[in-house]
Amino acid sequence: MQAYEFRYGPKLIAGPGAARGLAEVLPPGRCLFVTDETVRALGLADAVLEALPDVVIFDAVEQDPSRETLMAAVAAGEGCVSVIGFGGGSPMDVAKLAAYLIATGEDLDTLWGVGKALGKKLPLALVPTTAGTGSEATPVTVITVGGSEKRGVSGAAMLADWAVLDPELTLSLPRAVTAATGIDAMVHAIEAYTSARLKNPMSDMFARKALRLISDNLLRACDHPGDIEARGRMLLAAHLAGIAFANAPVAGVHALAYPLGGHFHVPHGLSNALMLIHVLGHNMEAARPLYAELGAMLDPSVKDIGQQGQAQAFVQHLARLARATGVPQRLAEVGVGPEHLDLLAAEAMKQERLLINNPCPISQADARRLYEAAL
Ligand SMILES: [Fe+2]
Repeated sequence: MQAYEFRYGPKLIAGPGAARGLAEVLPPGRCLFVTDETVRALGLADAVLEALPDVVIFDAVEQDPSRETLMAAVAAGEGCVSVIGFGGGSPMDVAKLAAYLIATGEDLDTLWGVGKALGKKLPLALVPTTAGTGSEATPVTVITVGGSEKRGVSGAAMLADWAVLDPELTLSLPRAVTAATGIDAMVHAIEAYTSARLKNPMSDMFARKALRLISDNLLRACDHPGDIEARGRMLLAAHLAGIAFANAPVAGVHALAYPLGGHFHVPHGLSNALMLIHVLGHNMEAARPLYAELGAMLDPSVKDIGQQGQAQAFVQHLARLARATGVPQRLAEVGVGPEHLDLLAAEAMKQERLLINNPCPISQADARRLYEAAL
């Protein structure tokens, strides 16, 4: 048996309408509420905000949030005693770091990387409105610096105190967002299960359950957006996948996806969806036994066709699922052309913290070839 460590996620509060009870768990005093304009416009936060007696709203979080946005949230939160992050991955990431910086006053530039944030943040509740990034479950936050470079702060101090899974908040998600964010969660589960570093039996269990739930409910949530059972299972799946990759980190798909977000503003889930099948193909030689295990779990009918067949069936299953959701399949559909391949490959190499987790090496030439295959 290999030695390993594992950390469970935040305290979970789940169920239809669960977000409305948030005011009862937070400490008395002013709360910084971090969200974005879409959430505000849809009125998703109205019931929660009404229940909070003393709240400062910061709703200027953009997709791929910048350092400037983070620092504006920190300034808005001066004097606050708790923080809520409410929305997709972007508001939740800003909320995590804001809760830390408001409490500690530390310099952001001393915190990039793993385990550098050692102080104590304000009490923090995260409420995902997509299913999803799993950000509510992880001690990782990603901020865009200097216009295009994604940097992360990772460590126990970033972990939320409460995660609220309220499927009522995801009922109005458009199909494209349901699909792309669901595929992001699927990639978290797959990459955690095959991570070259820190893979462990606990993460495996969470990843397998997440993948099973996504395989059974993603299309149902796309086709029947008001199906609260499917929405609830997708939220749970995204959360479980988040716990899995918080302990067994994501790898090559994310490393190649990030430059698409940074340079072409492709939403995070979609950028993962675009690269998934190509990176899985690249990893096949190294990850075949694990892909075969997942393939046999998702489709017991492939039980007797051998490891190679099971692994191939797994990749085909994912490709079919992605196609059926209707997400774009090619980089050309999001504005990427042959002239961008060198830039993307060079940028992917900067994601060293992710590339080291991939089941096999990805060189710059490999990355270029994979982007070319996805064009
Ligand atoms: Fe992701």
